[in-house]
Amino acid sequence: MGKNSERRRQLVLLPCPFQGHINSMLQLGTILHSQGFSITIVHTKFNSPNPSTHPNFNFLPIPDGLSDNDISSGDTVTILWEINVNCKSHFHECLSQMMMARQGPHDDVACIIYDEFMYFSEAVANSLKLPSIILTTMSAATFLARSALLRLMAEGRVPFQDSMSQDPVPELHPLRYKDLPIPMSGKYDTFLKLVFEAYKIRTSSAIIWNTMDCLEPSLLAQIQQQFQVPMLPLGPMHKLGPASGSSLWKEDTSCMAWLGKQSKHSVIYVSLGSIASMDEKQLAELAWGLASSQHPFLWVVRPGSIRGSEWIEALPKDFKENIEEKGCIVKWAPQKEVLAHGAVGGFLTHCGWNSTLESIFEGIPMICRPCFGDQRVNARYVSHVWKVGLELENEMERGEIERAVRKVMAEKEGEALRERAKNLKENIELCIKEGGSSYNSLNRLVEMIMS
Ligand code: UDX
Repeated sequence: MGKNSERRRQLVLLPCPFQGHINSMLQLGTILHSQGFSITIVHTKFNSPNPSTHPNFNFLPIPDGLSDNDISSGDTVTILWEINVNCKSHFHECLSQMMMARQGPHDDVACIIYDEFMYFSEAVANSLKLPSIILTTMSAATFLARSALLRLMAEGRVPFQDSMSQDPVPELHPLRYKDLPIPMSGKYDTFLKLVFEAYKIRTSSAIIWNTMDCLEPSLLAQIQQQFQVPMLPLGPMHKLGPASGSSLWKEDTSCMAWLGKQSKHSVIYVSLGSIASMDEKQLAELAWGLASSQHPFLWVVRPGSIRGSEWIEALPKDFKENIEEKGCIVKWAPQKEVLAHGAVGGFLTHCGWNSTLESIFEGIPMICRPCFGDQRVNARYVSHVWKVGLELENEMERGEIERAVRKVMAEKEGEALRERAKNLKENIELCIKEGGSSYNSLNRLVEMIMS
């Protein structure tokens, strides 16, 4: 696909302001920029991306109306709801100004691409007679599970009783009730309203996915049957275009030197992503589980992610003395580089969709410890469909963690997981090569935008 300088038309991208979503949208921007488009990122002030990471993009902040209370609550459902209520008029004004300031035909806004959870964008696009496309940053399995949630809610089957948590969800094999993508907070009503809105395709011309046809073929086909618009799987986006960074936290690259001193496939990498948190007891269980496994570990503990602590001051003193050179703890890591490093042999992950894709792409087997939402669906697919990981069944229990790390890193079961992960990686590499499904979807997307 050749770059075309005539093509330098504007695309306006609207990410949802959480790390996992920002990463996918900025990766999509990087892919489309490499195809010759100009990229403008319209973003909320809350969790605003750092413009210096993408000097070729134009960044335009809009007010989001979030209060300090909304932000400090960490309640993602309320934050998303508020953003959809508050941002519509600001986005309209921002786009109108962009359109008025156009200096030539190539300055026209060709299309708006918005995260499915920023659904207010579609009405704005319509009112300005601009085409729009949805980006869904999660898996096809999650999309279907979320739509099933709406059905189960209407049938009065969610919220469900604890006693049902291991029961299979009808028509959603292999998911159990406990695997449904329910939110972190118990605000079911607002959450389901959000899901309902995000599930509507409205007048958008296509849906872009950060997934691959070879990974979720039947699920994507099932979704395609339900909707008239084209489904365009472009995953894994971090590999389809040039590398790009969009971390909200400063990456501590010193861990790469530490990794350099470890032997091949010996290190278990541990990270629970950008939103999940744990209490001090869970922290101690995880710490002792890792230490007793006797495997070296690289552990990301995000500042503020241990409830009631600033960082790792709640770690038991004897644990710190015990680990010495065996463990490296950082506040934020260059995760994609870490997973690509030959010393890493396993990933204890919350199964956020980006982390899952990044791990799959590097052929790294996973220990899944999902916390909320789509992470539960991803964990179930990792362990029971793609079979490239195993899932911890308990909240955080040191014995279970120790056994899981040993299994994945040093036992026969781990070898089988690694072999399957390697095969999956090879299949996925084909998707992004010339003629592969993601490569072809990108061609189709570019043609759609140009037409
Ligand atoms: C959130 C939800 O938790 C997740 O379920 C949903 O799929 C996307 O939004 P998050 O916790 O941000 O996800 O996880 P994930 O999707 O895995 O994204 C985290 C990103 O941060 C990944 O791209 C990962 O590479 C990056 N990361 C994480 C770092 O760069 N450094 C780190 O130390 C940890």
